[in-house]
Order: sequence, then structure tokens, then C-alpha cells
Amino acid sequence: MAIQWFPGHMHLTKKAIQERIKEIDVVIELLDARLPGSSANPMLAGLTGGKPALKVLNKQDLADPVRTAQWLVHYNSLPGTRAIGLDASMSTPAKALVEACRALAPSRGSMVKPMRVLICGIPNVGKSTLINTLTGKRATKTGDEAGVTKLEQRIVLADGFYLWDTPGMLWPRIIVAKSGYNLAASGAIGRNAFEEEEVALELLDYLIKAYPGLLQARYKVELPPGITDEQLLEDIGRKRGAVLTKGRINLQKAAEIVIYEFRSGTLGRITLETPEEFAEWLVVGKKLDAERQVKKDRSETARLIKFKKIPRPENPQET
Ligand code: G4P
Repeated sequence: MAIQWFPGHMHLTKKAIQERIKEIDVVIELLDARLPGSSANPMLAGLTGGKPALKVLNKQDLADPVRTAQWLVHYNSLPGTRAIGLDASMSTPAKALVEACRALAPSRGSMVKPMRVLICGIPNVGKSTLINTLTGKRATKTGDEAGVTKLEQRIVLADGFYLWDTPGMLWPRIIVAKSGYNLAASGAIGRNAFEEEEVALELLDYLIKAYPGLLQARYKVELPPGITDEQLLEDIGRKRGAVLTKGRINLQKAAEIVIYEFRSGTLGRITLETPEEFAEWLVVGKKLDAERQVKKDRSETARLIKFKKIPRPENPQET
């Protein structure tokens, strides 16, 4: 079952971006370096009218450095776009941000023509932490629940350099099923919107193929050819003592362990998607979404015909 969530502050944030965007020079999108495709808001380019974009791959300390380099090349190759990697251990992230924004909007950044930057990102991507570091104080509250950043706020990053914050935002519908699982694994989606076991199985299914060495090192498990995600989750549960009566495995507990150890980086530096994989998932997702739309349109037409709101077409095949 694909994951769906209640998009929370989406409408408020959308409105805030639309109202502000006219006077913005660069839009910074904070991405999770462990899922740089899935954490990118597919609505953002439309909302910002194609303004120059800086993609910041945040939490790069948790991500696979080889894959982060691939994603930076990918985003840097897009028109009007630059990309940099960041993480909370960097004491002066402002320098990298200011430089990248200046490269995107070279005529801005003076007192007469200040650089006006909007920053957005999904919940839990580390926006409050970054802003706290930028301002040198606890300007915004951080926390582990999705959507802690609530109010839009302006921050002076340097002389003639202003940053507007926006609340953490998810979009209403995901067309790439894998993105839902990756967002849930990363902590961007509230706990009530997904089943831990389902997310852990999807995660393990990917890790068996992409990072078998990390799984073996962390859980001391065998990974014989053809092992399934279910078998591996059971194995991990057994190894970690997540056992119920009569030797049954507590799969919920095992799933929580896997998700927690992925999120915290205990499992190792992992990136759940490459640019090529994400592009393939997107093609499939768009195809399924188009089919879904056709089905929806058909049933709407059938409904209108039933209630005689529109005439029956001569050739029903064409509806
Ligand atoms: P948000 O405003 O985008 O919602 O995210 P926030 O800054 O609250 O960060 C969410 C969690 O991610 C926090 O952890 C924060 O410490 C952690 N984090 C932020 N940036 C980085 C980074 O670059 N690397 C790593 N490894 N972690 C990062 P938490 O456990 O929820 O809170 P806390 O225990 O740190 O207070």
C-alpha cells in the first residue's frame, strides 16, 4: 500500500510563497541528501515561477558521499540551478550559501540591491538547525516531529542579504510510491501516516541490493542470494532479541530498530536513490498517475451521464 499523508501546512506555505515570490531573487530548497529526488518538492518550480534555484543537500554527513557527488552533478547540470552539500557540523554554512546565491543572481547582494532569498524544504530536513547556525542563536525551535517550523521569518544573513524562512512543507499527492517510503524512512512524514513494518521492509529491500555490506556489518546477518526483506527483518529481530512468546518475532520492534538506525546513521552512510533510479521511478509514477487520471475522468463522465448532466457519447469507447 502506498503512503499518503495529510499535507499539514501546505496551503498556508503555498500562499506564503506565492505572496513573497515576486520580490525573491533565489529560492533555496533544502533537500535530504539521503533522498535528494524524493525530498524535492515537485510543485516548487511552478510555485516559484522558475526563479534561480539553489538545491542544498543537507545532512550530507548521513548520506553516501559517492552518491551525494552524483546528485550534485545532476542538479548543477540543470538550467538556473546550483547545488551544494551541507551538514550541521559545518560551523560557517553562510559562506557557502552566500557564494552560491551570488553565482545565481550576480547583480544582487548590495545594500542598494539586496539579495532576497526564500528557503523551503520538507519537515525534519534540518531547516531550523541550519537557520539556528546561520543566526548564531536558537531562532527557531528544532524537534523530531514533522513540521515543527511554523512561522515565516526573515533572517539577515550578511549585509544586503536577506533570507525568508517558510514552514516545512509536503505536497498533497506522491506519484512515485518509493518516494513515500523514503520520506517516511527519513522522518519527514508524521508517524501516524505509515506502518513502520511496511517502511522497514521497503528500506531493507533496497539495502539488500544497494548496501549489503552495511547490513552484514551492523546486524551480523547472512545475506544468501534470494533472501527476502521479510526474512531479513525476522533475522534482525531475532538477533536483537525482539522475540515474543513461542519464539515469534516482534516485527514491529524490529522495524523500529531498522528505521531508527537508518535515521541516526548508525547503519552507515546511505543514500536511498541515485539520479538514474529516481528518473526511472518518476517515469513509472507518471504513467500510473496518467492512467489513474483517465480512470477518474471516465468514472466522472459515467456519473454525469447517469444523472443526465451530459448526453451519452455516440461511441462510449472514446470517453
Ligand atoms: P526542520 O526544521 O527542517 O523540521 O528540522 P530540524 O532542524 O528540527 O532537524 C530535524 C532533526 O535533524 C534534528 O534531530 C536535527 O538535529 C537533525 N539534523 C539537522 N541537520 C542535520 C545534519 O546536517 N546532520 C544530521 N546528522 N542531523 C541533522 P533531532 O534528533 O530531531 O533533534 P535533536 O536531538 O538534534 O534536538
